[in-house]
Parts: sequence; C-alpha cells; structure tokens
Amino acid sequence: MIERNDPCFCGSGKKWKKCHYPEQPGETRDDLALRYKKRYGILLKTPEQIEKIRNSCKLAAKILDTLCKEAKEGMTTNELNKMAERMHLDAGAIPAPLGYGAPPFPKSICTSLNEEVCHGIPNNEKLKNGDFLNIDVTCILDGYYGDCSRMVAIGNIDEEKQRAMDTSYKCLMESIDICKPGVMISEIGNVIEKIAKENKCSVVDQFVGHGVGVGFHEAPQVPHHHNSTHIPMQEGMTFTIEPMINIGKRESIIDPDNQWIARTVDGKPSAQWEHTIVITDSGYEILTTV
Ligand code: MF3
Ligand code: CO
Ligand code: CO
Repeated sequence: MIERNDPCFCGSGKKWKKCHYPEQPGETRDDLALRYKKRYGILLKTPEQIEKIRNSCKLAAKILDTLCKEAKEGMTTNELNKMAERMHLDAGAIPAPLGYGAPPFPKSICTSLNEEVCHGIPNNEKLKNGDFLNIDVTCILDGYYGDCSRMVAIGNIDEEKQRAMDTSYKCLMESIDICKPGVMISEIGNVIEKIAKENKCSVVDQFVGHGVGVGFHEAPQVPHHHNSTHIPMQEGMTFTIEPMINIGKRESIIDPDNQWIARTVDGKPSAQWEHTIVITDSGYEILTTV
C-alpha cells in the first residue's frame, strides 16, 4: 500500500500526501465511496441522488427568496412561517425543521432576529425598523434535503448589523470558492476566520455546517473556525457552509426555556448566510440558487 510520503502514483513528482491523497492507485468510484463511508461516515452521492438533492435545494432557495422579499416592517415571523408552510405543501414537500430534534423544533422555518445566532423560533412580534434577521429554510422533497439561509434588513440598520451581514456573506462566498476535490475541509475555517478578523468580527464555533442531502445533518461537520478536519473534499460530497459571524464575543447561550434559540452572550448582533453545495470533478456547484 502507498505511504503518505511516497511519490504520488500520478507521476506529478509530488508526495502522495500533497497530491492525490487519500485516493489509492487504481481506485474505482465505488472503492472511493466505500472508503469515505467507512473512514469518515461520509456519503458520496451518485449523479441520480445529486439531481434529487438539486431539486430540493432549488425549492428551498425559491421559498427562501419569497420569504425574504415578504419580510417587512410590521410583519411577524409567524406570518413568514405560515407562508413557508403553504409553499412546502403546494410543492409536495415537507419542512424539515418541524418536529426535528429533541425537544422537537416547533415551527417550519428558523427566524433568528438581531442577537439571535441561530435556531430562532417564529413568533407574533412585529418586525421593526432597524431589525435584521436570518431566515433558514430546509426542504424535504422526494426524500432529499436542501438547506439554505439568508439575512434580511428591515428598513435602516446600523453600522454593526450591516458589517455583520456583509462579513458573513463574504465569508460564505469566499469559502465556497476554494472548494474542489482534494481541498481539506479545514481550509473553509481558515478563509472564514481571516475575513472575520479583517472586519473585526468573531466566528461562532458552537455550530457548524454539515453534510446534507440524504439526511438533514450528515457527516462531515464543517467548522467555520480554525480547526483540524483533515478530510479532503471529493466529487459527490454535498454539504452546507453557514458561517455565523458576531460583532462581539463568539460565545452564545441557548435559551433554557425552549432549548433551541441561541443568542450572543453579550447581546451584540449576529449574522449568517447558508448554501448547500456539491463538489464536482473540478470544483463546486451551489445548489441552493433560484
Ligand atoms: N437549518 C438549520 C441548519 O442550517 C438547522 C435547523 S434545525 C431546526 O442546519 F430544528 F432548528 F430546524
Ligand atoms: Co444547515
Ligand atoms: Co439551515
């Protein structure tokens, strides 16, 4: 068996660990998929599965897009939740959050307002000028999952909220842009930490991106902070990147009453954007686009 420091079998002259690692010489697609499942618990998807995940992702993105356009001053997040339910139903889909986890998540979408980091629960409070919120939609269509989220500003937001919103978007898009076969999952966190630092923001490390598609939260975990997840990306991996970026401290506290809503420990704003992507033969495709 080839060792990490041996010359790569492809003839590049580089060490195997710097080149085609962990691919084995003569390995078939099936060998690779089996090895990823055994070693990392990661499911490399077939083209047929990817097509179904793409359909689910498209629906999630369409619902999210509609909700973001509807979110206005005076509206409640419960109204957004109702609209999301209707759109899932009309498309023959199931909202993945509803009843998920323990205790079961009570609504069909997550709406995380201002200092809420993630897993915010829709309620009857009216959105007001100066608020900003993350809306997170996960669909199950034909048994397959698509997961995405975005920020919306209500009226005029202050400099801190604008900075959190812009920085988390940049973190998402620039970390997606390095993704291709062979790149380590840990590189995503390096890109995000660098951009956060440049913008005087902190990176939440209590919540991570995740494999998605056949299940809601699959392997691998995709940390947004500096980490040592030395798993090379491979064609057929489908996962989310969803950086949560804070203006103040990175720590959050989970609401003891509902055990879901995570809020920043210092009450300062937090922002997040999320896409589901698939690793292709030469790069990536963002699946959660309208
Ligand atoms: N959609 C969220 C994510 O990006 C997870 C929400 S779990 C829920 O992973 F139960 F709160 F819906
Ligand atoms: Co997610
Ligand atoms: Co999500």
